[in-house]
Amino acid sequence: MQTNNNCIVIFGASGDLTHRKLIPALYNLFKFGRLNQFSVLGVARSELNDDTFREKMREALLETEETTPETLDAFCSHLYYQAVNTSDAADYGKLVPRLEELHTKYQTNGNTLYYMSTPPSLYGVIPECLAAHGLNTEEDGWKRIIVEKPFGYDEKTAQELDVQIHRFFEEHQIYRIDHYLGKETVQNLLVLRFSNGLFEPLWNRNYIDYVEITGAEAIGVEERGGYYDGSGAMRDMFQNHLLQVLAMVAMEPPAIINANSMRDEVAKVMHSLRPLTQDDVEHNLVLGQYTAAEIDGKEVKGYLQEKGVPSNSRTETFMALRCEIENWRWAGVPFYVRTGKRLPARVTEIVIHFKTTPHPVFSQNAPENKLIIRIQPDEAISMRFGLKKPGAGFEAKEVSMDFRYADLADEQVLTAYERLLLDAMKGDATLFARTDAVHAAWKFVQPILDYKEAGGRIYEYEAGTWGPIAAEKLIAKSGRVWRKPSGKMKKKV
Ligand code: NDP
Ligand code: BG6
Repeated sequence: MQTNNNCIVIFGASGDLTHRKLIPALYNLFKFGRLNQFSVLGVARSELNDDTFREKMREALLETEETTPETLDAFCSHLYYQAVNTSDAADYGKLVPRLEELHTKYQTNGNTLYYMSTPPSLYGVIPECLAAHGLNTEEDGWKRIIVEKPFGYDEKTAQELDVQIHRFFEEHQIYRIDHYLGKETVQNLLVLRFSNGLFEPLWNRNYIDYVEITGAEAIGVEERGGYYDGSGAMRDMFQNHLLQVLAMVAMEPPAIINANSMRDEVAKVMHSLRPLTQDDVEHNLVLGQYTAAEIDGKEVKGYLQEKGVPSNSRTETFMALRCEIENWRWAGVPFYVRTGKRLPARVTEIVIHFKTTPHPVFSQNAPENKLIIRIQPDEAISMRFGLKKPGAGFEAKEVSMDFRYADLADEQVLTAYERLLLDAMKGDATLFARTDAVHAAWKFVQPILDYKEAGGRIYEYEAGTWGPIAAEKLIAKSGRVWRKPSGKMKKKV
């Protein structure tokens, strides 16, 4: 039987992700009784000890979580810390007695979940250093390793990283995290599609005109300019989060719900993406970079003025792409995907645009049917269609039927990191990216990387706008327009 009794070893425990996401997620799982026997061993080079690490994590939790002193004390008593020189294999020997002590104390049978939350350059090093001390073998309890993004920098480096990790951990032990897959509304897409007889018959090229996927952020690069400049919108959001969302929209129903059949279907979508040609990168792709502007009376820096960003950087903070999936369900249906920082709202949504009626009986401008799936914030699903405007004549106006997740107030919805950490502890890899899908995604985006490398055009856009005008023109070529979501669902009609 799978158990979530284990020791969670976080590499990079003094870093941003640990105190902002991982520890709060573990805290909430503990608070809601989802963790039983467990300990957390923080690891990094900084010379902290159990007490100073607990103090740092306590401060972080006080900033973000609703707590009581009792629950906070009880949770923090499970936290431990070991300073290790993370690039020196011999130093990992220090982990052996610590882990023995913790497994004995919490009766966790050697079950260990490693979480690599360090700079990506260490993702190949840490498994090797663990293996040098036998800390990867499963003779005494399971050993799993979570790999944070980015998984590689391009197809070649992703393959190299896979080879490095696979030398010491088998595929069933490796959990490549993509936190978008942990979002409740992304999973709900599958339930919406595959548990309702209503949608499935319409979910194909016969009825769908085009699909729009938007991952917009209102913030800039904040304190992460150094990291972001080596990444850009394509690697940071598109290659992973948005392609995974696209796969959920487009995949076939799995025969059964388990990690392999689900991930087989995701991989099939990635493999069916029509390879991008030179013409595509020149005409169906727009890359942009935000410039300074005044938003709500406040001066906002341009990307080139952000901390850690070289003043001549050509890194894109916006990307829009028209792509297609070559299979029977989707042939000929364009998918328009865009993402960017410093856009007018923080909103992630999918819009399924249905084809119009074959003949406009009532008016030329009858509203089109749309299904809007809001991933965040204000998670919701809204069906838009036309009804008669009251009064004389037969003019149609758009109305909507809305469902809001907040209406399920009695359900405790896990955040993405809570859900994924819990799944990894239970050994359920369904919502983690599998190696073949990751490689197919890199292969698909390689022409975009090559285009950038070859000096492809990066348009400017003013912070607080919906990206370069070129992105509007891209979709307008087929007579369509991007939706301009506000971050809030329309009031009920
Ligand atoms: P930080 O730079 O804040 O933290 C890095 C951590 O790694 C620190 O604890 C650092 O501690 C440790 N570390 C160990 N060895 C080294 C080394 N040789 N050089 C530098 N640091 C080292 O990064 P984040 O916490 O922001 O990110 C961690 C990983 O998670 C990254 O790969 C990032 O891409 C990914 N990620 C982060 C997100 C976020 O929101 N922050 C979101 C999604 C992914 P010490 O110096 O004490 O050793
Ligand atoms: C991270 C990216 O993976 O996802 C960030 O590195 C981005 O740049 C973040 O801001 C967005 O996540 P969410 O959950 O806030 O949409």
